Amino acid sequence: MKFLRRKPVAELQAEAVNDQRLHRTLGPVNLVALGVGAIIGAGIFVLTGHAAAEFAGPGIVLSFVLAGLACAFAGLCYAEFAAMIPVSGSAYTYGYATLGELFAWIIGWDLILEYLFAASTVAVGWSGYMVSFLADFGLSIPPELSKAPYTHQAPADAGWNLWRIFTEGWSTTGAILNVPAMFVIAVITGLLVIGIRESAAFNNLVVAIKVTVILLFLAVGAAYLNPENWTPFIPENQGPGRFGWDGVFRAAGVIFFAYIGFDAVSTAAQEARRPQRDMPIGILGSLLVCTLLYIGVALVLTGVIKYTELGVPDPIAHAIDSLGSAVAWLRPIIKVGAIAGLSSVILVMMLGQPRIFYAMSRDGLLPPVFSHVHHRFRTPWLATILTGLVAMVMAGLFPIGILGELVSIGTLLAFTIVCAGVFVLRFTDPEIPRPFRVPAFWLICPLGVLSCGWLMYNLPPDTWARLLVWMALGMGLYWGYGRRHSRLARSRAAG
Ligand code: ALA
Repeated sequence: MKFLRRKPVAELQAEAVNDQRLHRTLGPVNLVALGVGAIIGAGIFVLTGHAAAEFAGPGIVLSFVLAGLACAFAGLCYAEFAAMIPVSGSAYTYGYATLGELFAWIIGWDLILEYLFAASTVAVGWSGYMVSFLADFGLSIPPELSKAPYTHQAPADAGWNLWRIFTEGWSTTGAILNVPAMFVIAVITGLLVIGIRESAAFNNLVVAIKVTVILLFLAVGAAYLNPENWTPFIPENQGPGRFGWDGVFRAAGVIFFAYIGFDAVSTAAQEARRPQRDMPIGILGSLLVCTLLYIGVALVLTGVIKYTELGVPDPIAHAIDSLGSAVAWLRPIIKVGAIAGLSSVILVMMLGQPRIFYAMSRDGLLPPVFSHVHHRFRTPWLATILTGLVAMVMAGLFPIGILGELVSIGTLLAFTIVCAGVFVLRFTDPEIPRPFRVPAFWLICPLGVLSCGWLMYNLPPDTWARLLVWMALGMGLYWGYGRRHSRLARSRAAG
């Protein structure tokens, strides 16, 4: 079957060597920072409180361990692929090498949900923090200019009725546009067009700020821990997904969002100086750093304040407030850290997306405009600007809830396919040199598939419905364009 044609790994490896259009400037420290930059953001600064208050209580610590474990399995698989096939394109390229063109397309299309949609989602969170930070200094941005014009909540009883999911539950908010969200995307797009080295320097600075702020929170909070807040550690179950172990699992699905991003390191493979060694360091190193920080934050957060009080949009700042005036100085610092954190997530997501488009376009599955590299900046500038424009429109107009859920399900689908891909390739192409090998792959890969699939399974039907519609759209595009323009297809036909 033509659409299952695979791109030989040797060909991909040759591409990595021959395609010198992108600059190879990133070392291990930059790559770990790139990962941390992509990971720590809205998940920890916004979602943790809601997940603790509604689903898990102090058990949120265990939710972080569980979601971190699923990501560790996927991270190991990403590391094997990224060291073996260090070209831009991430999971899309791995899919092309293992499962065939159609799957590659599905992953590429699916990754738009992870990168482009995440940039928009986090930009909306950035807008919220920025507006609140400016308000502390007496600068007020009117709500009409800092919120989406409408919201959407699918009816609870809609089940799998697609018509009802998509047509009911819309309401206007009275706002016109989320201007700050659009602004931050515009600035970051500009930065990315200018160059990857400049972007990496900016990212390193921002990562340093947000990690320092988190460490400060941990240090200050540790002095105020009240062990009584941790009992009961897992509050008694109050219905499906509400507390008890059921709630811990439900919360793991929610805070999975906080881990998204370590895989973005692999999109910069073609700009890494020594990808074989540094890709695994970047992916696994950033994941490890963030897992430890997250578990620490979850412990301190639920230790300094009762979990029932954490259901607010800025749980960390709220926890600091509850500690009294002696630590009030930390509040604006936390906001700066959050704004910095969210900025770098947007940056890395917007760095990743055009590089996936670049790889898809180079393979002929997308029009050539997506792989056009700027002669002076050596960046895929047109794809970057296009990504920026779409992300801006979505961040300005769309409700955050829809965007965020789609990001999680899209990412989990990509992780599941990557874990399956590593497994398959060990049998189909065992001889390819693998600078990094997943230990006990016969166990880790299936565990990765199962744990990511299981987190997907826990997401609500309306999220699944949106994923299906998005995928159907993608299929239309593939049959209408990609299949006919595929370079692999043409080279096979010519040969
Ligand atoms: N992990 C990223 C965040 O928490 C997407 O914002």
